[in-house]
Amino acid sequence: MAAPFAELLASRLNEALARTDFSADLPDGFSPKIDQTQNRQFGDYQSNAAMILAKVLKRNPREVATAIADAFDGGGLFEAPEIAGPGFVNFRVTTAALTDRLSALIADEVRIGVALTDAPKTIVADFSAPNVAKPMHIGHIRGTIIGDCLTRVATFLGHRVISDNHIGDWGTQFGMILWGWKNFLDHSALEADPISELLRVYREVNAKIAEDETLRDTCKAELVMLQSGDGENLAIWERCIEVSKIGLQKIYDRLDIRFDHWFGESYYNERLAPLVDELIAKGIAEESEGAICVFFRDNEKLADKPALIRKSDGGFLYATTDLATIDFRLEELEADVIWYVVGAPQQLHFDQIFAISAKRGQKAELQFIPFGSILGKDRKMLRTRAGETVQLADVLAEAVDRAMLIVEDKNPELSAEEKAAIAEVIGIGSVKYAELSQFRMTDYIFDWDTMLSLKGNTAPYLINAYVRTRAIFRKLGSDFAECGEVVLTEEAEKALLLKLAQFAEIVPTILEDFRPNALAAYLYEVATTYHQFWEACPVLKVEGEIRQTRLALCELTGRVLRCGLGLLGIRTTEKM
Ligand code: ARG
Repeated sequence: MAAPFAELLASRLNEALARTDFSADLPDGFSPKIDQTQNRQFGDYQSNAAMILAKVLKRNPREVATAIADAFDGGGLFEAPEIAGPGFVNFRVTTAALTDRLSALIADEVRIGVALTDAPKTIVADFSAPNVAKPMHIGHIRGTIIGDCLTRVATFLGHRVISDNHIGDWGTQFGMILWGWKNFLDHSALEADPISELLRVYREVNAKIAEDETLRDTCKAELVMLQSGDGENLAIWERCIEVSKIGLQKIYDRLDIRFDHWFGESYYNERLAPLVDELIAKGIAEESEGAICVFFRDNEKLADKPALIRKSDGGFLYATTDLATIDFRLEELEADVIWYVVGAPQQLHFDQIFAISAKRGQKAELQFIPFGSILGKDRKMLRTRAGETVQLADVLAEAVDRAMLIVEDKNPELSAEEKAAIAEVIGIGSVKYAELSQFRMTDYIFDWDTMLSLKGNTAPYLINAYVRTRAIFRKLGSDFAECGEVVLTEEAEKALLLKLAQFAEIVPTILEDFRPNALAAYLYEVATTYHQFWEACPVLKVEGEIRQTRLALCELTGRVLRCGLGLLGIRTTEKM
């Protein structure tokens, strides 16, 4: 498979620069920027290199652009460049190159042109990580969906990704849960729906504490007993984790998400005391008012924000666990990179543990991948009518119910089973897509009507575009066979093919700044470009090579949509 057009263009442009009369004066390491154009009127790709260089060379930008254009050799892949505006150089892929690319992309069924990385890494992806027995609120949905998508993309690019659900299974909430469990747990409710029952107990204890503050100490005593290894409390704790994991797994199954590991916080308990001792011995941590802290005196950002790693009562903290977790991931999982997909409010925590890791001389690349909040239509934190945090499981159930209405409307004659399966794909896909089509730091508004709309940048629209590419072959009465002779005659065909070929350019960029939304935006463009092609180019009404070509374009569009949605963690369906 040939390299993506943008890459081929970059090397030809570099060769052209080397042939210009100013080649000796190019800034060191200069590499021209190449952008895909939004409007094909300006060619397929555009470079502002001439404008940048004109400043350095103190020459007229259009003159520099002309020199570049004159030196450029398209080698049959690109037409002679055109100069536009103040000094843009516009490039167009030749019809011959597009024609060759169509058969090559069709032949490359699995990768569709996307190259494997030449620097594969072992990446530990830490995402989702809810706190057991505490409300898993809708905010967790963001990290869960983004983390899963990044995991899929990195895996597709050839990295070794290890996903680890670092669940909060050892927090102070267990004092409350233990006391509540002993006093008012409904065992049959626990069997039926562990997450809801534990949540009910948690909320009930909270309400009781609000009435009677002394209960806080009762709960604390339960926690201390657990931490000092009391048999009964340990048994309850274990059972609590076990049922919670089963409940969580149900949600992950529905979301089609899997983890390689569930090393929760408690997994590191034994490592905390020796770790703190080691940090003291190495002079990284020190005592301060009975507690053990790490100071960052030479770090401007953190100078007045020491990290506490052991409390004066001997208890360890969230940060201590995360430090032990880094050791484990580096030593046992052999990570080169660790991703933390966690809400933006934890920025300081990660700044601190990353700074401590650097003090320890650890070499791994630690990446905090934060995200913003999900808001209700009133632009406040999303809550239920009763004012409680919105439960993820409820959101998913409602999404599927609402998707069912769309299916009933579009395809009432399908069997009940088929309808249910399609509604599941569309409902879950809509929730995921609403998330992934936003830049992760954006605080976005959770709105059912927008996310389930059949028009606009939504999952139903994209899945429907995929379904349309499939419907053609059902009408034809046979599956896509092979490409055969290709002939591109219409502009709409070329525009579509160029877009499809750019899948190979988009996918690797997703990891540059962890932007699944770039892929979502691209897929939306694929769907709209396909729509334009569809309006302009009849498929089954034409014959011979033209029909062959158009069928190949339909097939390739379907593959790009399915693969691209798959990277977002969204499934497709053959009918809708
Ligand atoms: N349990 C934490 C929370 O719900 C998130 C954990 C993120 N991962 C980590 N290694 N700290 O806020």
